Amino acid sequence: MNRVTIEVNGRVLAAEVAPRQHLGDFLREELLLTATHLGCEHGVCGACTVLIDGAPARSCIAFPAMLDGAKITTLEGLSDDPVTAELRAAFTAEHGLQCGFCTPGMLIMARDIVLRRPGADEEAIRHELAGNLCRCTGYVGIVRAVRAVAAARAGLPAEVTRGLPVPAPAYVSPLALPEAGALAPAGRAAPAAAPPSAPPPSVDEKSLETLKNPVRLEQRFTVPAGVGAVWDFFQRPEAVVACLPGARLVAPSDGTRFEAEMTVKLGPMQAAFRGAGTIAADAASYTGTLRGQGVDSRSASRVQAELVYRLEPAGVATAVHVDIAYALQGPLAQMSRGAIARDLAGRLTVAFAQNLAAALAGAGAPAAPAPLDGGGLLLAMVKDWLGRLFRRRG
Ligand code: FES
Ligand code: FES
Repeated sequence: MNRVTIEVNGRVLAAEVAPRQHLGDFLREELLLTATHLGCEHGVCGACTVLIDGAPARSCIAFPAMLDGAKITTLEGLSDDPVTAELRAAFTAEHGLQCGFCTPGMLIMARDIVLRRPGADEEAIRHELAGNLCRCTGYVGIVRAVRAVAAARAGLPAEVTRGLPVPAPAYVSPLALPEAGALAPAGRAAPAAAPPSAPPPSVDEKSLETLKNPVRLEQRFTVPAGVGAVWDFFQRPEAVVACLPGARLVAPSDGTRFEAEMTVKLGPMQAAFRGAGTIAADAASYTGTLRGQGVDSRSASRVQAELVYRLEPAGVATAVHVDIAYALQGPLAQMSRGAIARDLAGRLTVAFAQNLAAALAGAGAPAAPAPLDGGGLLLAMVKDWLGRLFRRRG
């Protein structure tokens, strides 16, 4: 059991939680906060959406054991919130619910949308709500309801609802990206910019130390080549990026900085993060660090990440240790925690290791490795689970 202190709807609680108990079960079963509904319990349907530190997140793939010090808000905690009251009235007026199962998650996500994107049009709302599924309504009433509240808020300042200030994308080269206002497709509201008084951090100054609760992942793999050859390979950013599924450099790298794009698919959702970062390497200890920040212009989601690698001779082979820390902000942040993110990282590592081994053996990595598809990942996870279940019963 883990002892954690969590604030739920303004009440600070000290609790003993099992490492595997997810937040949705904790809220419903321990605290009897049953407005949080559980549908798929795989991070797909959005029924279980709550606010974690002010940002919408899926409680079925968040774990209280990892949320020490976090502030959780469920729909019960928004009963006196005026924006939620407007949304409730609009959902009633526009027939935005039938059975109501998806409604708590819809309301929490809708509140985030109208606060963050006042005046959002139908296309933007449909895109933002794409992670919340409804079996009954056909979405028309839901979108109309959210549109009505967003329209009433047009002209109000956009609120940063993500708990952390959103840095302006000043780290992105003007050569690599259009002006921030032009990032959104025609007819859609541009993502909210940071207040002009806050100078945007540069890639060199920004450190993950300043991020709250970055997700940390560790990966280990071995490649059948000597440590010298692997080290030399790692000093060629274009060769390394060519081994990463869905990644490409958007400008030549001088070995100390890079500009890149990374596409990840998660079922029907596809994100293309584009950004820039720095590279540091220490040949004496065979270690290197990459730091970067990127933005997915379609969802207005941002990522900051740090990757530290260390090479170690393992006989005639090389053991590669990779530690990753990242923080996602925006709609895609809901998918950044839990088993899906870890499994995605694991599969990315396997694909990278295979491509790296092939490149070191002279076979070359695929010219443009396809993006990793999390839809396939979910299917594979279900298959793995069924396999384990039947093995246990056999
Ligand atoms: S229950 Fe479906 S996303 Fe959590
Ligand atoms: S109203 Fe029934 S699932 Fe959305």
